[in-house]
Amino acid sequence: MNVIEARNIVTAFGDRVIHDSISFDVKEGEVFTVIGSSGSGKSTLLKELIMLLRPQSGSIKIFGSDILGFDNDKLKNFSREWGVLFQSSALFSSLTIKENIAILLKEHAGISGALADELVSYKLSLVGLPGHVRHMYPSELSGGMKKRAALARALALEPSLLFLDEPTSGLDPISSRGFDDLILSLRDALALTVVLISHDVHSVTDISSKIMALHDKKVVFLGSVEEAKRCDHKFLKSFFDVKGEQLGK
Ligand SMILES: Nc1ncnc2c1ncn2[C@@H]1O[C@H](COP(=O)(O)OP(=O)(O)OP(=O)(O)O)[C@@H](O)[C@H]1O
Ligand SMILES: [Mg+2]
Repeated sequence: MNVIEARNIVTAFGDRVIHDSISFDVKEGEVFTVIGSSGSGKSTLLKELIMLLRPQSGSIKIFGSDILGFDNDKLKNFSREWGVLFQSSALFSSLTIKENIAILLKEHAGISGALADELVSYKLSLVGLPGHVRHMYPSELSGGMKKRAALARALALEPSLLFLDEPTSGLDPISSRGFDDLILSLRDALALTVVLISHDVHSVTDISSKIMALHDKKVVFLGSVEEAKRCDHKFLKSFFDVKGEQLGK
């Protein structure tokens, strides 16, 4: 089953075209990874998939629904289907970790009090954070803990679709691999479909079910990790060459 069907997406800011007719499908249970150089429009595409931004033309179906046709009420209901970890972590700095998660439970599901407390503990344990973190502020956490807390927040409403924009950027290699393992185990345990944006060649290689490469406003590659490694396109060649260097090839 296709969880996302994007067809002929065209995006422009003023007369600067960012996406020139991009089409792809994301299947249930996949880790669908989007790669591309800085500025190739990966985060912009994510914003379109969650309706923070509207493409100039094209269509986007999520779980079969044409989201570009949604009004605000419908969108608010539907947006519970997905959780998002934004590139800049996006935790509220003036709220504790517990409050960061509880605010979503209250706003979108009307859950508060003891049940919210229990759910916060459960979400923190899902992402491997100790319970005492609930009382801390984002500024008191390490980069890796912040990412996990933001992931707990993204999972607050039990979404079936998870968007992750550069979840391992700024993390050391060991924390990054730990985060990769976490993504895969959560995908399996919670039956998630994951759309991952990443520059991290190790993550891309280790956890992607499918890779889509954006370059020069177009999709220049769509396929498996093995096919991506064999692809002759210059962007993919340089992407995986970096990996070779990092591995001491
Ligand atoms: N709101 C906006 N107004 C004007 N231009 C924008 C806006 N948002 C993004 N852009 C431009 O669109 C292009 C793509 O940006 P985007 O953030 O999607 O890139 P990216 O692939 O996520 O890059 P990175 O890997 O650095 O995160 C950039 O040139 C950016 O300047
Ligand atoms: Mg980005």
